[in-house]
Amino acid sequence: MDQMFVTREQERLLRELSDFLAIPSVSTLPAHAGDCRRAASWLMAELRRLGCPTVTLIEGAGHPVVWAGGPRRPGRPTLLVYGHYDVQPPDPLEEWDTPPFTPTVRDGKLYARGASDDKGQVFCMLKAYEATRDADGLPPCNVNFIFEGEEECGGRMIFDLLRSQPEHTRADAAIVLDMSYYAPGIPAVYTALRGLCYAEIAVRTLQRDLHSGTYGGVAPNAIETLVRILAGLKDEEGEILIPKLYKSVEEPGKSELKEWKKLPFDKAEYLRNEVTATALTGRKGYSVFERTWALPTFEIHGIRGGFTGDGAKTVIPAQATAKVSLRLVPGQKQEKVFRQLQKAVAALAPKWAEVEVRMLHGGDPVQVDTDAPAFGLLDEAFEEVVGRRTVHARAGGSIPIVPELGLTGAPVILTGIGLPDDGLHSPNEKLDLSQLWEGIQVFGRFLELFGERGGRGETEAGDALPDEEPAEASAEA
Ligand code: BES
Ligand code: MN
Ligand code: MN
Repeated sequence: MDQMFVTREQERLLRELSDFLAIPSVSTLPAHAGDCRRAASWLMAELRRLGCPTVTLIEGAGHPVVWAGGPRRPGRPTLLVYGHYDVQPPDPLEEWDTPPFTPTVRDGKLYARGASDDKGQVFCMLKAYEATRDADGLPPCNVNFIFEGEEECGGRMIFDLLRSQPEHTRADAAIVLDMSYYAPGIPAVYTALRGLCYAEIAVRTLQRDLHSGTYGGVAPNAIETLVRILAGLKDEEGEILIPKLYKSVEEPGKSELKEWKKLPFDKAEYLRNEVTATALTGRKGYSVFERTWALPTFEIHGIRGGFTGDGAKTVIPAQATAKVSLRLVPGQKQEKVFRQLQKAVAALAPKWAEVEVRMLHGGDPVQVDTDAPAFGLLDEAFEEVVGRRTVHARAGGSIPIVPELGLTGAPVILTGIGLPDDGLHSPNEKLDLSQLWEGIQVFGRFLELFGERGGRGETEAGDALPDEEPAEASAEA
């Protein structure tokens, strides 16, 4: 690859990434649907500029999926690149040092919502691709790109697409750059992601809000009822009190636990720099890795109800809702866990309250094998550029589509260029620019090695996908 690409093009790259980050593509907020579309269009224009003959916008019920294919390299292996262009809401806004959609460099770090999750990483892969194109504009291997806009909000667009057209994932390997290094200087590949079951618990105890003096003492309070139910779902030591929840949990094997023991970990530093608390909570007898990677969780994300405005209002609330979620680990299934949650809530609900549990979204947990040759090639690339191979870890987060990406048999490489303190979903999310420059070189080198040795065998996965309409004719609505 062009060794000088990063040094030469830094300023332009920073400008381009800043343009992408300035688009507030918050997928969960309906008011930003147009911005999601603009982010998709930004990607399409970029993919065309990079010489992809096929660039399409796939429409459906939600935010569109961007699908593109580079020029065909017959006989060479095919890589599928996955990423997401949507971001989480930026609030609380007042906690940002500079506005979330005004990308700003401070101290070698680029601050913006999406800088690390996931626009900055999508950009890294696009620029690695750009840097490895030869004089004729040809990349070292077949590359297909699939970028979705509903990763952060649990949308089904990409699921429907892959169900109806599974050939979109046919490849010799798939790579997901939506993760981080294990620590500064220590790149990582992830062997598992947790799943998610996100739900809303709604409680109604009265027809209408009531005077808390006149009726206080007899009228059932919806918020109180809700918080008693919530408190009944987890004990003080972090054990989730949903019957049979832990029954299907598959614990990590001895050798995996042994590998985790070798990972450098400084609890005090972790507490201070990442968790930002004064103590860790959770299940006794389990390590931090087990608690964040291999055990289910139950979290309360927000409670709505009653009076929360300025001043005081003496009222007994008639209704209250809580947004909650469980992280799931190998062995568990989202749908079954939802039914278990519904049952547990029903058992905790008093007779006189109307209590409903609604599923919002989720995804199953996933484990990936890391024996495929592509993992070795990635290690070679990291070794050459960073001077060290990847460590294998698990991640506590979720990427719902990952189980489907591997359904056609392609190994799925979960990796990334972020750092643990990037502040994903938090105020002041950032990407260290040194990670971006290094990442472009690593993944550029990876594309080259993959082109030489990334094949899975006889079949050419890339040729299985019929060439679609050319870019000019693509459906950009
Ligand atoms: N990139 C994250 C997932 C992630 C975070 C992987 C940290 C590894 C380490 C992704 O964008 C994300 O935030 N996913 C959501 C999924 C959910 C909204 C369905 C998550 O995990 O909360
Ligand atoms: Mn992400
Ligand atoms: Mn995210």
